[in-house]
Amino acid sequence: MTNMLEVADLAHTYGEHQAIAGLSFNVGAGELVCVVGPSGCGKSTLLRTISGLIAPSSGSVSLDGDHLAVVFQDYSRSLFPWLSVQGNVEFPLRRSLRRAERRARAREALSWVGLEDVGRKYPWQLSGGMQQRVAIARALAYRPSLLLMDEPFASVDAQTRFELEDLLLKVRREHGATVLVVTHDIDESVYLGDRILVLSGSPARLVADLRVDLPDERDQIATRTDETFVALRSKVARLLNLGKAPTVDIEKWAAAEREALSEALVDR
Ligand SMILES: Nc1ncnc2c1ncn2[C@@H]1O[C@H](COP(=O)(O)OP(=O)(O)OP(=O)(O)O)[C@@H](O)[C@H]1O
Ligand SMILES: [Mg+2]
Repeated sequence: MTNMLEVADLAHTYGEHQAIAGLSFNVGAGELVCVVGPSGCGKSTLLRTISGLIAPSSGSVSLDGDHLAVVFQDYSRSLFPWLSVQGNVEFPLRRSLRRAERRARAREALSWVGLEDVGRKYPWQLSGGMQQRVAIARALAYRPSLLLMDEPFASVDAQTRFELEDLLLKVRREHGATVLVVTHDIDESVYLGDRILVLSGSPARLVADLRVDLPDERDQIATRTDETFVALRSKVARLLNLGKAPTVDIEKWAAAEREALSEALVDR
């Protein structure tokens, strides 16, 4: 498998605060990789450096291809309210394609996400889940070599979230996109991923790079009750706790406590 993305020894510091420290990993062409980590550990910073929104303090990012699209959590701020749905999806193509081609590309992407009938509506006339589908269609219309998603389903209800997860898996299967998704939802990372990158607390370091050994075809009920799914979800949960805790040796700590206690008792 060729690598679509190579991240090598990437670090970023905001002023005094080190957000990410020495991250290295690759994403193969056609892979869907999930990134999980404690809140505030540096996941968005990682995506920002990969997308070029900010320059990393050190390390390198190399992308095999020149098209990159990002889907953010907050769809209400990422769509232009003064443009129709069709206009929003066409927007990133305005410089690269002629009008007729742009239209066709946007219509096609809207049909992939099941929104072929709402092209003339405005974002504010749609539900949250539909707006997020528009944001996904806009990213897909651009035919990105790499699709970056930062907690893309975090602000929709549970049922819509399941639908959007399946939609992502479907478009990815049918159109072969390479995707890197940040999520704080452990179950979602196992459900969606071919691999899961587990990050530690601030500064973010790579704690584990896990392969998800589940069939490509996933099902919201069957997959989530599958033994492999359940085992992997527990493993990620354990790793995340490990990532958050300061490095203490429990045995040593307990011995020290016992010693302190016996000294206190002797003193009395
Ligand atoms: N522009 C900035 N200037 C200074 N510090 C920042 C900036 N952006 C983020 N940080 C800090 O860097 C750390 C990582 O932030 P980041 O947004 O990458 O975390 P995150 O893992 O995406 O968090 P969340 O799970 O809440 O989305 C945080 O401590 C945050 O306060
Ligand atoms: Mg974030």
